[in-house]
Amino acid sequence: VEGSLADSFGRRFSYLRVSLTERCNFRCTYCLPNGFVKQKGLPAELSADEIARAVSAFAQLGLWKVRLTGGEPTVRSDFADIAQSIAATEGIRRLAMTTNGYRLAENAPEWRAAGIDAINISIDTLDREDFARVTGHDRLDEVVNGVDAALDAGFSSVKVNSVLLRELRESGLDDILAFVAERDIAWRFIELMRTNDNAPFHREQSTPGHAILARLEEAGWRELPREEGAGPSRDFVHPDYRGRVGLIAPYAAGFCDNCNRLRLSSRGKLHLCLFGDDGLDLRDLLQSDDQQDELVERILSAMPGKMRAHRLHDGNSGSTPHLASIGG
Ligand code: GTP
Ligand code: 5AD
Ligand code: SF4
Repeated sequence: VEGSLADSFGRRFSYLRVSLTERCNFRCTYCLPNGFVKQKGLPAELSADEIARAVSAFAQLGLWKVRLTGGEPTVRSDFADIAQSIAATEGIRRLAMTTNGYRLAENAPEWRAAGIDAINISIDTLDREDFARVTGHDRLDEVVNGVDAALDAGFSSVKVNSVLLRELRESGLDDILAFVAERDIAWRFIELMRTNDNAPFHREQSTPGHAILARLEEAGWRELPREEGAGPSRDFVHPDYRGRVGLIAPYAAGFCDNCNRLRLSSRGKLHLCLFGDDGLDLRDLLQSDDQQDELVERILSAMPGKMRAHRLHDGNSGSTPHLASIGG
């Protein structure tokens, strides 16, 4: 029923982020600096059927938007099948994905055809050498071609996620704005979040977003009013630019007040927050279609446990080793 997914602070949840895998073919310095390391003894990734049952229970509770994320969701060979089945789920009106863009240039039309409406691509810098250093892969050109392929493929929304790092030169903003001038994209800067694995890196490399806000305002960019049900980004527009620029500032006061999202990990745990929540295992109820009622009950029973806000300010990232573990 629409609106029945709510917490004790009156927030309603319309959006589920589904992590398809923790695996990734990049090794970004702030996330997986040593690359993906398989841990022994963990449960297998959810199967396509288990994912379909989970999504359909959330949809029954009125949730209507799903994002496929990871890790890198497209390393799964059944990625397009999973997308197709979620897109066909009753009640799901919008299907999005987040990718590092590694194989986007060749696959954009296929993923669009599988029912994906919106796509977010990670690009921290447009400088080729910096990109190679940050991600561990000299693939900037391919990823940029992927952005253009996504625009051509007719996704309703194409966004870029760009983590702010102190080591990236401030002059990089000029290249990014030139890129945004010609493309109907939203380029969103994200303040680096501290996770359990990246504490020393976070201390050295985090840099607040307000310097960018100041430069945008000086150059005539104007903030758009927040839309009802919008995500965490503050968005800015300029008459001379086709695209938008956004800032996601998780350490800002009130960041969690409008939280509209829940998360499903690749091993079947429901996470009510990115940080500080160990997750509620749903997997035993994803084994047959007959369990749907019980599954819905378990999801509902978890909702009052959602915290008002993350506690990153106290340096508390809970049990989240890195964002690849539950999907950023
Ligand atoms: P749309 O606005 O619908 O495109 O979705 P989105 O902003 O959720 O998309 P995306 O997955 O690309 O999120 C961008 C990044 O913002 C994530 O990867 C995280 O780094 C950060 N982020 C998103 N949601 C949260 C959240 O609930 N808490 C925190 N702390 N960070 C978040
Ligand atoms: N802080 C902020 N953003 C992060 N991402 C991954 N780890 C972090 C972090 N520690 C971003 C990625 C990608 C998105 C899914 O999350 O760069 O754009
Ligand atoms: Fe992979 Fe995303 Fe982490 Fe980069 S940020 S290593 S693309 S999961």
